[in-house]
Amino acid sequence: MSINTVRHDYNITKADRETRNGHRSFLLWFTGLSGSGKSTLANAVELELHKKGISTFSLDGDNIRQGINKDLSFAPEDRTENIRRIAEIAHLMVDAGVVTLAAFVSPYIKDRENIKSIVGVENFIEVYVNTSLEECERRDVKGLYKKARTGEIKNMTGISAPYEAPINPDLEIITDNQSIESSVEIIKDFIIQKLK
Ligand code: ADX
Repeated sequence: MSINTVRHDYNITKADRETRNGHRSFLLWFTGLSGSGKSTLANAVELELHKKGISTFSLDGDNIRQGINKDLSFAPEDRTENIRRIAEIAHLMVDAGVVTLAAFVSPYIKDRENIKSIVGVENFIEVYVNTSLEECERRDVKGLYKKARTGEIKNMTGISAPYEAPINPDLEIITDNQSIESSVEIIKDFIIQKLK
């Protein structure tokens, strides 16, 4: 509830912080199935940017769900709330002048659309980490797909819950037959010009 609150504007703006940092700030949003490689790619891209002296921060589904969002389940309405809160956090980070990388399954198109309205469409870059379900299941890094197949886990994205793939992402990375290094290069080349 936000009744009886009045927005206060501060003198130092996002533009001031960007000028001081010497680069633009925006949100790089990685969406894709669990195990698709979102966190791995976000991690590697952040490392490259950090080496170039860019201010960065990463937000990650598994980590955030152990902290600020530990009250949320994987039911559709909780996933929506998960993404809304992350978008609000990311908005603050972007306003702080930080290039923010976010790795969340974020399976619903409407939730990803909502991120744009929170952070501003000009600050949002959607990266679709397109790894086939077969490949994610073959990797099964966390053993979740196995549990989902036996019914031990309900609402597993791709198995018993939907994943709505982006229709027109800013960038699509097909990882099945591509090395992490080449995926990182593609992402880096894409965003480097946007930092200016
Ligand atoms: S989201 O759907 O709400 O965006 P989020 O990215 O925060 O999901 O969390 C996904 C991570 O939680 C996965 O990488 C996986 O490790 C774990 N997880 C546990 N249960 C599920 C499930 N039912 N569906 C998807 N991911 C799950």
